[in-house]
Amino acid sequence: MKKDILNQNEKSWNALAEDFFGVTALPILGCSIPTEDELHLFPDLCGKAVFEMGCGSGHSLKWCADHGAKELYGLDISQQQIETAKKLLEENGYSCTLFHQPMEDSHNIPQNYFDVVYSIYAIGWTTDLEKTIKNAASYLKQGGVFIFSWDHPLLHCVDLESIAISGGNRTVSTQERIIFNGNYLEEDYYTFEKYGNPLTLQNRKLSTYINILAKCGFAIERVVEETSPSVLGKSKDFSSGYYADFKALHFPLSVVFKARKL
Ligand SMILES: C[S@@+](CC[C@H](N)C(=O)[O-])C[C@H]1O[C@@H](n2cnc3c(N)ncnc32)[C@H](O)[C@@H]1O
Repeated sequence: MKKDILNQNEKSWNALAEDFFGVTALPILGCSIPTEDELHLFPDLCGKAVFEMGCGSGHSLKWCADHGAKELYGLDISQQQIETAKKLLEENGYSCTLFHQPMEDSHNIPQNYFDVVYSIYAIGWTTDLEKTIKNAASYLKQGGVFIFSWDHPLLHCVDLESIAISGGNRTVSTQERIIFNGNYLEEDYYTFEKYGNPLTLQNRKLSTYINILAKCGFAIERVVEETSPSVLGKSKDFSSGYYADFKALHFPLSVVFKARKL
């Protein structure tokens, strides 16, 4: 666990909580990818116990409760997010058990207890992926399901470029293209700012997730690398955002893993 990074990220997530109210929550699994309503990765939740790592504003837990989940548990590094999630769930008549702690820490969390452990766009924030996935395995009953989504690792390695095509001494057209300007092999920490708040994380290779899942006793059932048909059907307009649909026409912006505890 990298205490300095966690402290910094915790402060920033407290400041960002309002901006992420229900933003990346079930049935949404990621950016420009099919939703849970289309993919059906989650099992029937009726009467089930679920646990969310990085529960944010609580909207995904609410979705689980709306789909019949009986016991709602979650954790988040941000006290602000925990309070928001508690309020949302209470207002909707659901009781929950939420822990204010990082996903790297398994303190207090029931072992061999849950039918489903999941994380929607939060797992990439861990400073110790192996410990976090090992924790998920320890919370699950045998045969329980672990589902998580995050940025596709290619996203961090590419950029968009718009170049002018000249004819004579004037620009006759522009050409938009995706360029590979990162390093897929590099898993070093990097820091960026979101609305003035510093956040630090690592980009990880697909094989890093797969190999750790296998090491921690999971059988991988599905890896989703898809762009949503509704995005593919859109006009090919060029836009320059990090999560631009233009990129999603060429590769998936998010990846989802579904694994089962052996
Ligand atoms: C994009 S949000 C996820 C939102 C969530 N899926 C929802 O339904 O609202 C990412 C969340 O991860 C949390 N987070 C960041 N680092 C964490 C860590 N090391 N351990 C636990 N939670 C963390 C943030 O506080 C934030 O709430």
